[in-house]
Formats: sequence, C-alpha cells, structure tokens
Amino acid sequence: MARRSSRYVCQECGTIAAKWSGRCDSCGAWNSITEENEPVSPPGAVVSAQGRRFEFDALDGAAKSIERAVVGIPEFDRVCGGGLVPGSVLLVGGDPGIGKSTLLLQVVAALGKLGVPCAYLSGEEAVDQVRIRARRLALSDSPVKLAAATDVRGILATLEAEGPVQVIVVDSVQTMFVDSLESAPGTVAQVRAAAQSFIGFAKKTGSVVVLVGHVTKEGQIAGPRVLEHMVDTVLYFEGERGHQFRILRAVKNRFGPTDEIGVFEMTDSGLAEVTNPSALFLTERSSAISGTAVYAGIEGTRPVLVEIQALVSPSVLATPRRAVVGWDTSRLAMIVAVLEARCGLSLFGNDIYLNVAGGLRIGEPGADLAVAGALVSSHTGTSVPEATVFFGEIGLSGDVRPVSQADNRLSEAAKLGFSRAVTPPGKGRKSHDIRITQIEQLNELVDMLQPPSTSAAAESGSIRRQHG
Ligand code: TYD
Ligand code: MG
Repeated sequence: MARRSSRYVCQECGTIAAKWSGRCDSCGAWNSITEENEPVSPPGAVVSAQGRRFEFDALDGAAKSIERAVVGIPEFDRVCGGGLVPGSVLLVGGDPGIGKSTLLLQVVAALGKLGVPCAYLSGEEAVDQVRIRARRLALSDSPVKLAAATDVRGILATLEAEGPVQVIVVDSVQTMFVDSLESAPGTVAQVRAAAQSFIGFAKKTGSVVVLVGHVTKEGQIAGPRVLEHMVDTVLYFEGERGHQFRILRAVKNRFGPTDEIGVFEMTDSGLAEVTNPSALFLTERSSAISGTAVYAGIEGTRPVLVEIQALVSPSVLATPRRAVVGWDTSRLAMIVAVLEARCGLSLFGNDIYLNVAGGLRIGEPGADLAVAGALVSSHTGTSVPEATVFFGEIGLSGDVRPVSQADNRLSEAAKLGFSRAVTPPGKGRKSHDIRITQIEQLNELVDMLQPPSTSAAAESGSIRRQHG
C-alpha cells in the first residue's frame, strides 16, 4: 500500500520543497507554494530486470506516412506544419482575452464542416456562452460536439463511448480535474495529471488533442514547465492590447518547423486571416517622420516588413530610461553601446524608447540595422530616406554582417513599393526593382542620417558607396 505524504510544490516552476515557505527558493516567486498530497512508492523500491521484454526496431523500417487533417485556415495550418497530425497533442498558450477560444472554435467548426468529427470541451464557459459565440461567428451549423466539462475521467469515458472523435479541444487544461488527486484544479499536480491523461488518450486513439493553456504574468504557460516537454507542439497566440492583430507562433513542433507565424485580425465576426502581413504592419506608417525605419524581416518561411520606431530624448533621470516593446532589451543596449563606442554618437544621457509597430515581436538579430537606423534618425532628427528598408546584423566592432534570405527580403520590399534598401555586403543578388546600398560599417549609416547642414561633409563618403 502506497504511503501518503505531504509535499510543497511551487505553482510557478514546479520545484518540490520539504516545507512551506512564502517564497520559492528556486524561482523567487512569492506565495506560489502550496501543499499537495501524493502517493509515493515505498522508499528503496528498485526496478529489477524482470519486466516484460520488447523488440527493438531499426531506423530504416517502413514508417507510416502522416496524413494530416488540414483545417482549411491556411494561417493556422502553416503554423502547425501543414495541418494537424493524428495522435498529436498541441498546447496553445496566450494571455486571457487574446482570442484562444475564438480561434479554436473556428478551427473545430471548420473541420466539422469538412466532415471531421470534432469535440469542443469548455471548462471555463457554459454551453450557452459557447453557443452565443458560435452564433456570432456564424458557425452554429457545424456539427461540433459541445460540452461544458472539467472531470477528466468522465470526459475520456464519454469520448470513448461516442466513437471516433478526431479532434478534441480542451479549453483550458488549468480547469481540468483528475479525481484521484486531492489538489485543486490548476495546481501543478492536476495540470500534469490532466495533460498526461489526454496525451495517453491521443496516443491510444489517434485523436488530436488541443489543450488551451493559460499564461503567467511572465508570459509562460502556467503550470509545470514539463507541460511544454510533454506535448508535441506548443503554439503561442499573442498580440498587443488595443491592436487588432493576433500572431500565432510555433515555439515547438515535433511535426513541423518552428518560428513560423500565422497572422490574424480580430474582427466583429471572429478572427480573420491576414495573408499579407507586411501591408498590415505598415498601414499606419507616414513616411517623413524621424525615428522610424522599416525592417525587412523573415518570420518562419515568410518575409514580413515591419516598422521600427525609436525615440531618443534627453533624460532628467540619473539612470536614463530604456523601454522596449517587441524586441530584446539587451540587444538594444548592445546597439546603443556600439553607436557610442564605434560611431561617436552620444546617447548616454538620453532616455531611449523602442517599439515594433503593430504588436509584432522580433527575435532576429537581422533587425539590428533597422533599429540602429531608427535610433540615429531620432537622435539627429533626420528622417530616413523615403521608401527604404533595412536589414543586417551588427557586430560589436560596428561591422554590418550578412543575414539569411536577403533575396526574399528584397523581393518582398520591392513588391510593397519600396525602392531602396540598406543591406550588409553580399554578392550575387538577383536583380530587384530596388536600389541597394551595401554598407560594411555602422558608421556609414550614421553618416547617411546626419542633418542636412552636416551631411554635406559626410556626403562624399556615403554617396560614393552606393551600388546597384
Ligand atoms: P476569447 O477567445 O474568449 O479569448 P481567450 O479564450 O484567449 O481568453 O476572446 C475574447 C475577446 O475577443 C473578447 O475581448 C472579445 C473579442 N472578440 C471579438 O472581438 N470578436 C469576436 O467575434 C469574438 C468571438 C470575440
Ligand atoms: Mg477562453
């Protein structure tokens, strides 16, 4: 008979402690430790070599080809790697109110209309609430099985009895309850047990299970970190409050590429796909303003143009402010340091604000040059030349380094009506309808963005370097 003992588990990071304390020693979170009862195997239980034997397989055996369930929402399908893989488990995380439930209702409804048996299990909303949403989205006619339920055992029994259900949405995993555990729904033990039950069900039956996961203040999926390791695919649904754009991003995918994004727009009638995100991210752009530069980026397989905005203003604080939205703070510190040390710009006593327009979050170092362009432009008050895009990584010595997929970036820029590009040096570019200025040193960009009075001196330097 298993012995019952108490243990104290941090709800933020899953660390187990022997006694309660107000602050987790491991992650530093306050008031995150709760008591849990769990059966433990008797101490000293050692696994002997008397289990059931199995046969090993060879790597080159015949593998079943994967038949994906294509949803028919291309932005969603692409992020999943081309549709949902039978027997796989997806975890979709995102802030409250960002549109997770809306997106997944649209997904099951679309599949339902294609004749794929689907179920939507809501642990957060009543059946009527989901119905009202379905009506608003004009999806009521889709044959989706709907239930408001949180008891995992009951859900699995029902699904088994219902016959084949190919896609199951569980909204959300934090509300699910496994009755063999004493802890409350949402605790680490419950979330892990519920996820394990659904994963087991998916592997056994070949159904796809989509788990919705809440995120913590820090933007990570709440519950044990292991949750992300247990599932096959982790998607984050993000966006800025006050913006209509929503971005679905794959951060882990056992059956497809990561860093792929799908762009949606939240409308009165649900999430609409945005097939040309660059046009969307640039719509509010007015050209002749200092402190902005357009970055020709790549998100996953797709080029995306996005505006980078900077504001550099004299600070009254002893430690000037550095505020960044949509980019990496330490990367900004690095660029500012390079501008200071290698280009002689004096930014030290200034507050610096950096914003990626439209609510996109950029992770690529290829944005360095556009960020530097926006910073220098704001500092000197000179707007960047009209219809110009930037891309390139900046090294600590102030050198501008090549980034991947230059041709893709340039053709997207040309397609959207940009006529100039400031890029790292590179050979063998296809001809685009775009004038390319290749720069090797960050200094050259700084020269380019001097106010008219001083640029006469720098002009001879910068103009001569233009190619194309
Ligand atoms: P929801 O899907 O409930 O978010 P989550 O499940 O991530 O918490 O989305 C809720 C928000 O979306 C809510 O603020 C209203 C808005 N919304 C629309 O703007 N249009 C719509 O058609 C729907 C259904 C929701
Ligand atoms: Mg919801």
